[in-house]
Amino acid sequence: MRLGAAFVLGLALECANAAAQDAGGKPFAPEQINKGAELFATNCSTCHGNRMAKPEWAPVDLRKFPREDHARFVDTVTYGIRNMPPWSDVLKPDDIEALWAYVVAGEKR
Ligand code: HEC
Repeated sequence: MRLGAAFVLGLALECANAAAQDAGGKPFAPEQINKGAELFATNCSTCHGNRMAKPEWAPVDLRKFPREDHARFVDTVTYGIRNMPPWSDVLKPDDIEALWAYVVAGEKR
């Protein structure tokens, strides 16, 4: 019983943390943003532009990606959409979180 309660509490705490980050309440760790910046330069900049500016190929400006749409970001990057390739075989969930940190907090707009 006590184990079960601890598990539920842990889950609740995790959710609360995730929500705080998504809503922009909690700043991202600089290391996470840097990791995201590197991953972006390697995997995404060919289409989305260096540092997300002047995308060469993608019709979207990631600097304007809505901060509250974490789920859409993860889904798009994981599974792809139309001409956007899926990344689930290349990037781990951690990597996608780092990219998220970079996209919403990495480049000043
Ligand atoms: C081969 C070119 C290409 C690469 C590489 C690429 N993308 Fe995309 N991306 C696109 C295109 C094209 C779209 C627009 C898809 C559509 O809606 O038709 C897009 C859309 C997106 C969107 C959705 C934007 C929105 O408003 O819903 C996100 C988020 C995104 N890309 C993130 C990434 C990330 C992160 C990477 C690197 C892991 C990446 N992309 C790599 C081509 C690319």
